[in-house]
Amino acid sequence: MASLLLLLATLLISTIFIIFISLSNKQNKTNKAPLPPGPTGWPIIGNLLQLGSKPHETLHDLSKIYGPLYRLRMGSVTVVIANSAEVASQFLRTHDANFSNRPPNTLGDHIGYNHKGPAFVPYGPRWRMFRRLSNTHLFSTKALDDLRHVREEEVAMLAHKFVQAKGTSTNIGVEVGKELNACAANALTRALFRRRVFEEHNGPDVGEFTKVLEEVLQLANGLNIEDFIPWVKALDMRGFVAKLKRLHLWYDDTLAKILEEHKTKPKIAIKGEVEPKDLLSVLLRLEEAGVKDEETDNKLTDTDIKALLSDLFIGGTDTTSLMVEWALVELIRHPDILAAAQKELDSIVGRSRFVSELDLNNVPVLQAIIKETFRLHPPVPLLIPHTASEACEVAGYHVPKAATLLINVWTICRDPELWSHPLEFDPSRFLPGGKNADVDLKGTHFELIPFGAGRRICVGLRLGLRMTTLLLASLVHGFDWALPNGLTPETLNMDVEFGLTLERSVPLVARPIPRLAHEAYEV
Ligand code: HEM
Repeated sequence: MASLLLLLATLLISTIFIIFISLSNKQNKTNKAPLPPGPTGWPIIGNLLQLGSKPHETLHDLSKIYGPLYRLRMGSVTVVIANSAEVASQFLRTHDANFSNRPPNTLGDHIGYNHKGPAFVPYGPRWRMFRRLSNTHLFSTKALDDLRHVREEEVAMLAHKFVQAKGTSTNIGVEVGKELNACAANALTRALFRRRVFEEHNGPDVGEFTKVLEEVLQLANGLNIEDFIPWVKALDMRGFVAKLKRLHLWYDDTLAKILEEHKTKPKIAIKGEVEPKDLLSVLLRLEEAGVKDEETDNKLTDTDIKALLSDLFIGGTDTTSLMVEWALVELIRHPDILAAAQKELDSIVGRSRFVSELDLNNVPVLQAIIKETFRLHPPVPLLIPHTASEACEVAGYHVPKAATLLINVWTICRDPELWSHPLEFDPSRFLPGGKNADVDLKGTHFELIPFGAGRRICVGLRLGLRMTTLLLASLVHGFDWALPNGLTPETLNMDVEFGLTLERSVPLVARPIPRLAHEAYEV
């Protein structure tokens, strides 16, 4: 009898236990948030083929169907896309630490020195080391001020070139984006390693730099099939990996030669400098002195230096020149806004000299044009992909571990809830008294984050803003702009090519007409 009672008691306890477990499981299941909505994909490839040649536009259209947070399946990877300022802020502010890593990607494998450079290195001590080095020696106020003359010289040379072009090709005009790109690249590489990359007879093959960069940026759109289907990458069916390896070899070899040259001739300074202030000279001094990084306790190596220089060059050239090209296109289409900016600059600078960075502390019209250009033409429309280190819940949805995150800046900047008449170029919204007067570009106003936000925000933001402001001020103050025969502002082609950056499909060709005293353009 006693054993029967014991058996019954055991059965009862087990049954209660099983019911409890199954109830609590059920509870867990119903408590777990659903995955974000999204279109059904094909087996194996998922939604990859649905993106088309202009993924930012496809993703924008999908946001109208699926809302501020939706999900795609790219091969074996879950990709979540944030399409509103509110959801972007949940990812990059509330859950920023969890999304501070990059997903595995082929670009980082090859161009990014096997994820050793600042743009792809995992979030942690090494990433902080790169940020510290570049923030101290390149982007601090002092470092930026020290290299102001470099940026101003390069911009003055560009203006001089435009003035000369006027005499030779009156009806044809200049390819503005190409010239801006050369100028931005030269100013940056002089800051990085004291070299102009656009100059004949300039040492180890540096003239190729931007051609190679162009190829890298076209390949580097963040949505390559190789990043989502491992066997496509392994078989390298499109020759994508081979191309990246070739480009990496070129960069590595060229940077190695530049390093070697700096090591053997470290004392050459650009005119007037007592001591070279370029980043490479500083880094080599640290390397030679065997200085250890305070956190990683590692000494700098040649590979660290090359990886840093390479990412800074790739990150800082096209973004800058593209933005200024778009601004000029918009100003040619809106002559009244161009005239207002010219009036503002004339009142500060006059017409007898060229503009300097020192003139640009209080230029609300120009600043408003810059913000509006970043809004309507964000150079990096989906930011650089982030990844979820752990599963989490965002905006009521479950985001699985290892999901790739795209922040759809392009859509956020066109959100009619945030921007009145969002497709119009209207800088007045940012002017004092305007609806968006308080919005800045520094990553706290999530409706306008062309440089990203949170830990992985663009490290070159301050230089990017200084250079775009100086370049645009110079083009606006130094020149009137006309289009070549047969073209009108209304017929300017506004199509884009999708890549990591959004290039114009048809580059802007325009005629710069000098508007300052002749001497102002002398270099
Ligand atoms: C108009 C100018 C620029 C724009 C619009 C821009 C935009 C961006 C964006 C959107 C990101 C990705 C942020 C994210 O992942 O959330 C980024 C990252 C980065 N940018 Fe820029 N950028 C500009 C200028 C520069 C300059 C001048 C440099 C360097 C000289 C630079 C170097 C980098 C680097 C190294 C990263 C990777 C940062 C990291 O992963 O921690 N950028 N930039």
